[in-house]
Amino acid sequence: MDTPSDFDIFLVCPPGLEPLLAAEARENGFAPAEPLKGGVLIRGSWAEVWRANLQLRCATRVLARIASFRAMHLAQLDKRARRVPWAELLRKDVPVRVEVACRKSRIYHAGAAAQRIERAIAEELGAPIVSEATEGAVQVKARIEDDLCEISVDTSGESLHKRGHKPAVGKAPLRETMAALFLRQCGFAGREPVVDPMCGSGTFVIEAAEIAAGFAPGRSRSFAFEDLAGFDATGWAALRGAAQRTIPDQRFYGYDRDQGAISMSSQNAVSSGVAGVTEFACQPISDLVPPPGPAGLVMVNPPYGARIGNRNLLFGLYGTLGSVLKQRFSGWRVGLVTSDAGLARTTELPFLPNGPTIDHGGLRIRLYRTDTLP
Ligand SMILES: C[S@@+](CC[C@H](N)C(=O)[O-])C[C@H]1O[C@@H](n2cnc3c(N)ncnc32)[C@H](O)[C@@H]1O
Repeated sequence: MDTPSDFDIFLVCPPGLEPLLAAEARENGFAPAEPLKGGVLIRGSWAEVWRANLQLRCATRVLARIASFRAMHLAQLDKRARRVPWAELLRKDVPVRVEVACRKSRIYHAGAAAQRIERAIAEELGAPIVSEATEGAVQVKARIEDDLCEISVDTSGESLHKRGHKPAVGKAPLRETMAALFLRQCGFAGREPVVDPMCGSGTFVIEAAEIAAGFAPGRSRSFAFEDLAGFDATGWAALRGAAQRTIPDQRFYGYDRDQGAISMSSQNAVSSGVAGVTEFACQPISDLVPPPGPAGLVMVNPPYGARIGNRNLLFGLYGTLGSVLKQRFSGWRVGLVTSDAGLARTTELPFLPNGPTIDHGGLRIRLYRTDTLP
């Protein structure tokens, strides 16, 4: 039930994957968890904002809606932006960056609109304004759509895929938030083993192990909400400290033909606190066999997006991957992430109908997943 201090909270995720984040939000007790374009809407107070940042694996960031008003022209925006209770939200000594997007509105010049909001904050509150992304600056985001101006503050700061305990990163790492979304899309709930035969820095394996262990993804990092006015450090410390953990029955396995990748994965598993339930070994895909114990999920993100000349080599690699999995992994499910539909087809794995394509650092990637292999 809403309390008088409840407000809209928008959980951001890549477009196309909103239903997965909505399901995660619901499982974690957030409501109404309504999927919208580019994210999921929940309601709550600052306690829910903290908890969303701390607990949700699939959200990229958490925005707190702080004001909403009609603005037909810039003078009206100026006047109404000055009435926002900035001092209740922002601190005078923390720099603020304002970002505006306009759509289907009489105010169409985002730069001019940002300048009005910046001036309101500078003159009403006295906080320094920065125009570039600056470390330590709080972001205020305004969206003007159909002449309705909605102002939010970014409570996360650095993108939530930065869990804060991954010292070693490879050449083409998958973001942790994407790994969590794809694991969820494959039906992974923490109760089966996961094998990644081309694990790079170990993102899938570590994310899966953390899910099984019940770790809070944000346990090691700081958040922008800690720099907002009235932040209750004691309440936050209590919430962060209350996280529950279990010791999983399963093991999580990562392989890569590159010894450097295996060293990175091992190091990342140690700093994430899951070294006890993960195993990494240097091994090419041709040597892959299922680990002892029950069948589970193979998650793999083979090389892709290579220059034209290299694509031919990749056909061989995807072909080998497909035949190894079909011959040796009966009873397992497969989730394969790539930007190249042709390469995915080369595996000849029995993929289920395609999910959406997702922007990942400028490349359009997609999860191809199978049911249990015969
Ligand atoms: C796109 S990266 C995986 C990135 C990983 N998902 C992460 O988040 O760090 C692909 C990985 O496949 C590995 N690889 C390429 N050919 C391989 C082979 N034949 N056997 C095993 N690993 C291979 C590469 O060394 C590289 O680490």
